[in-house]
Amino acid sequence: MNHPSQKLVVDDVRLGHWSSRTEAFSLACDGLSFEIAENEFVAIVGPSGCGKTTFLSALAGLVPVASGRLELTGAPIQGPSPDRSLVFQQASLFPWRTVAANIEFGLKAQQRLDERGRARVAELVELVGLAGKEKAYPRELSGGMSQRVNLARALATDPDLLLLDEPFSALDAQTREVMQEELTRIWQVDGAGRGKTAVFVTHDVPEAVFLADRVVVFSSGPAHLVEVVDVDLPRPRDAAVKRSPEFQEISDYILGLVMSQTQPGRRASDHGSNATVVG
Ligand SMILES: Nc1ncnc2c1ncn2[C@@H]1O[C@H](COP(=O)(O)OP(=O)(O)OP(=O)(O)O)[C@@H](O)[C@H]1O
Ligand SMILES: [Mg+2]
Repeated sequence: MNHPSQKLVVDDVRLGHWSSRTEAFSLACDGLSFEIAENEFVAIVGPSGCGKTTFLSALAGLVPVASGRLELTGAPIQGPSPDRSLVFQQASLFPWRTVAANIEFGLKAQQRLDERGRARVAELVELVGLAGKEKAYPRELSGGMSQRVNLARALATDPDLLLLDEPFSALDAQTREVMQEELTRIWQVDGAGRGKTAVFVTHDVPEAVFLADRVVVFSSGPAHLVEVVDVDLPRPRDAAVKRSPEFQEISDYILGLVMSQTQPGRRASDHGSNATVVG
């Protein structure tokens, strides 16, 4: 049954890639079932190569479902649509367009760059901390700034579902922390305290715990569901929450689940809490 508050329904989904070279289908995700509620922020973690990007691509409508049900707001996902925005690891900005023009791009393509659209762009420029940089070109930006533009561009069209695939993994550790805080702040502020429904893929377990309401743990490939872990940390969150015992406990627990996939037989208690990046 499709519960009305469930935004995204993943029901026994199998996904894979067809290779014309080998003429074979290789399975990337198998029997995935879980649901994501409206306005929920869900992170997905799992070993490298397990099928996270494939799953996110299926949500974006770029990879067809081999079997099972993948539904957004009650309708099957059948292809790309402006109601979903995808943010990749590398900010893929148009080098010949200014910051503002990059952020406006989706709205313009949808012929929605009217007065309201422009006001939205101006608001997002402020929100992601790029005021004064509107006329700059991508080559004049740092990696963190580029990723802010990327994020603002994804938010500009006011998508139903925000899909993020390791958006901060190319950034240095410090910028990454700043961007995590920025993203929670934006997500908390943008939309009456609760943000968009978001799916965030990452290798970094503390990043997942900091950002998400729930963390979905994928097995080694082909990915099946290991566990969905609730993150009962109060919002609004800031960096200080990372030092709390509750944060450590949830992170260690999830890290243990992921480690058991990459190194069978290894338990959560076998690693120190300094080990943050897996996969
Ligand atoms: N375009 C493709 N054609 C064929 N096989 C693919 C394609 N893209 C991914 N795969 C395969 O699908 C499996 C899952 O890959 P995917 O990129 O989804 O993993 P991932 O969990 O995102 O990995 P990482 O954490 O390293 O980003 C891998 O075995 C990969 O080789
Ligand atoms: Mg990936």
